Amino acid sequence: MSSRLSPIDTAKFVAAKRACDFVEDGMRVGLGTGSTAAWLVRCLGEMVNEDGLRITGVPTSSRTADLARKVGIKVVSLDEAKWLDVTIDGADEFDGELNLIKGGGGALLQEKIVATASDRMVVIADRTKQVETLGAFPLPIEVVPFGWQTTKALVEETLSSLDVMGDSGILRMIGDTPFVTDEGNYIIDLHLHRIDNARQLALILNQIPGIVENGLFIDICDVVVMGHGDGRVEVRDINTGVRTEDRIEFIDNDNLFTDLTD
Ligand code: 5RP
Repeated sequence: MSSRLSPIDTAKFVAAKRACDFVEDGMRVGLGTGSTAAWLVRCLGEMVNEDGLRITGVPTSSRTADLARKVGIKVVSLDEAKWLDVTIDGADEFDGELNLIKGGGGALLQEKIVATASDRMVVIADRTKQVETLGAFPLPIEVVPFGWQTTKALVEETLSSLDVMGDSGILRMIGDTPFVTDEGNYIIDLHLHRIDNARQLALILNQIPGIVENGLFIDICDVVVMGHGDGRVEVRDINTGVRTEDRIEFIDNDNLFTDLTD
């Protein structure tokens, strides 16, 4: 293997490549959002074009929908697909029980709906995403724009009485304007540092009016495929307890999705 890809991109690529093994001909596949998921979409596109793989993709964001169409994957809405065989997506953090923080790319709402409507959710990640305890990565919550400052104040007040280390929320911005999700909502990033009871927090947050969804994915992920910068890939299935490790060999040449952007 040559070294045109950085170790982190190699790790993302090999995780995505290995996760393609979970996709079979005729499947309805949830397509995640983010830089790791973009590798997956490219890999699947290659399988569609070169190996004749027939799949139907349900994207979790407008960005992913654009990329999927561009690489030749048939795209339908979740309501058209109704139920999915597998969803493959990235994550910002995963713990030992394969609970996740997601939403760094601002697509957590569609991502959670799509993953929940799937027989299996496979997360693809590099090893930096593996944590003992969730919470170092700021937890995104999607809020409706109406009254968002009041919602934020209510969230902070609620957090101060819970088992988390921080309680401040920051409205996600793009330059001078709030980041707006595909659903027209805002994202508030909660700087909690450590979440000792993620299950409880996920339930409590969704009780607060104004919060549409939070980025904690509890009992949703079935498999994590973790890539390393040297091409090794670890696969862990939480349902069977099976862990495997192998190595993806590939030629890192100029044709390897050089125009990939996300
Ligand atoms: C988008 C997400 C992404 O899956 C998460 O942010 C990981 O992204 P990346 O693969 O670029 O690190 O949740 O909402």
